[in-house]
Amino acid sequence: MSHSPRSAWERANDRLARERTSVRMPDRLRWDHNAHYHSYLLRQLPPRFARALDVGCGAGAFARLLARRAAAVDAVDLSPVMIAQANAASPQPPNIRWVEGDALALALDPERYEVITAIASVHHMPLDDALRRFRHLLCPGGVVAILGHYRPVTASDYALSAFATIANPIVGVWQAATGRRLPPPVDMPVRDPATTLAEINAAAERHLPGSIVRRHLFYRYSLVWRGPAVEGDSTAIDRLLASLADTPTPTGDGPSSAAIRSSEPSEEDER
Ligand SMILES: C[S@@+](CC[C@H](N)C(=O)[O-])C[C@H]1O[C@@H](n2cnc3c(N)ncnc32)[C@H](O)[C@@H]1O
Repeated sequence: MSHSPRSAWERANDRLARERTSVRMPDRLRWDHNAHYHSYLLRQLPPRFARALDVGCGAGAFARLLARRAAAVDAVDLSPVMIAQANAASPQPPNIRWVEGDALALALDPERYEVITAIASVHHMPLDDALRRFRHLLCPGGVVAILGHYRPVTASDYALSAFATIANPIVGVWQAATGRRLPPPVDMPVRDPATTLAEINAAAERHLPGSIVRRHLFYRYSLVWRGPAVEGDSTAIDRLLASLADTPTPTGDGPSSAAIRSSEPSEEDER
């Protein structure tokens, strides 16, 4: 039986995907591929901002990093297990609100956030709906920064995947040896990506034109979009100062009730 080159690539990729999941590294060598790109994502963001939304926050590691720069962070996840883990971590930054719910459906004001991030979560949602929603929620001049999974289909996708599969345990050994290892979160909902990089680029052009989409080594891409600023609009610093007047400060030792666990929009959301 003869196979087209495309189907040969697909079979090779299936094999790689099977190997990635079936050849399980020893627990002490497993590491968090998402966290590996946290510093890259942080470099795409302004040094200070008023409100940030982290979509699909999981156990909350990135939301905590955002909270060091933001006046207020809304960290949303569909999974009650993830929100419980995020809530259980200590200490709790007073400026994070953990919200259990669907980030695409929560009642949130348009143009509410200066920063919207999504790490390994966009492939759980219809891509067009997610990007449209992010644009709707982003204020003028804000930044959307996504780290995502794509479905490999091209020769270069497969070559990079193969290289990453070899590099993966080497990085695991190096991280374990240098004490830098961050183990991946447990019980995290995962899903295989359905969209290819070409489809992601096309969707980005439709909803967030001018986005910069980059393919990264460890099975991920990043998408960064800086929304156009509206002439005469208040500056990011103005908005930060205005928001500081009505939100808990990141440095204060405010009440832990600032972390609200709710699937319903809060009164503040409704304002
Ligand atoms: C692979 S995990 C990544 C978690 C976290 N961002 C990290 O880097 O560790 C994807 C997360 O997205 C969440 N998720 C999926 N669809 C969602 C939605 N519509 N709204 C909010 N969260 C969602 C899942 O519950 C899951 O916790």
